[in-house]
Amino acid sequence: MDAEHMGADLESVLFTEEQIQQRLRELGAQVWADYADKDVLLVGVLKGAVLVMADLMRTLPGSVEMDWMAVSSYGSGTKSSGVVRILKDLGQEIEDRRIIVVEDIVDSGLTLQYLLEMLQQREPRDIKVVAMVKKDKPDAIDVQVDRVGFVVPDEFVVGYGLDYAGRYRNLPYIGVLDPSVYSSPDEDRAEVDER
Ligand code: IMP
Ligand code: MG
Repeated sequence: MDAEHMGADLESVLFTEEQIQQRLRELGAQVWADYADKDVLLVGVLKGAVLVMADLMRTLPGSVEMDWMAVSSYGSGTKSSGVVRILKDLGQEIEDRRIIVVEDIVDSGLTLQYLLEMLQQREPRDIKVVAMVKKDKPDAIDVQVDRVGFVVPDEFVVGYGLDYAGRYRNLPYIGVLDPSVYSSPDEDRAEVDER
């Protein structure tokens, strides 16, 4: 499927490539100011955060380290269940470290809440959270998110790392997926959704 066809599955474009990159420069400055040149470890959550990690860290004017976790949540194609399983853990201890968790999207907040509890048990010095996208969802749980790129309406969005069934991550912009794409009959089958 070429880019034009992927784009045709979108109902609308919410944020263009230029808007995303501009917002990341602002976020990068804020994130950097939060930790003011301290020794920082960026922790990304595979796979969705790959793009935001790569672009955000290049806006930071000094040295940082990077590590990754992979988790999966059980649920149907477009909903999270909050049951999270670690597929890949960090490659290092984080005790006494300053951590910035880099997330692609916070929807119900369940995944992030679970992740933060797990990281806190390892007694880092401090944790901050940056999310590229946060859904405007009244019933979302009140989980720590320190910096947000964009707030989006409570619809299924794809692009810039965000997928539906593994696709659309490579779109350089963010848009609302046309519901006809996921309202096919097998949509509700239970599956392991690797993020
Ligand atoms: P949660 O509901 O905050 O636990 O969201 C968990 C995960 O669901 C996110 O990290 C994404 O992988 C996925 N997700 C939730 N909403 C969307 C969306 O609108 N587009 C793409 N992925 C989403
Ligand atoms: Mg996903």
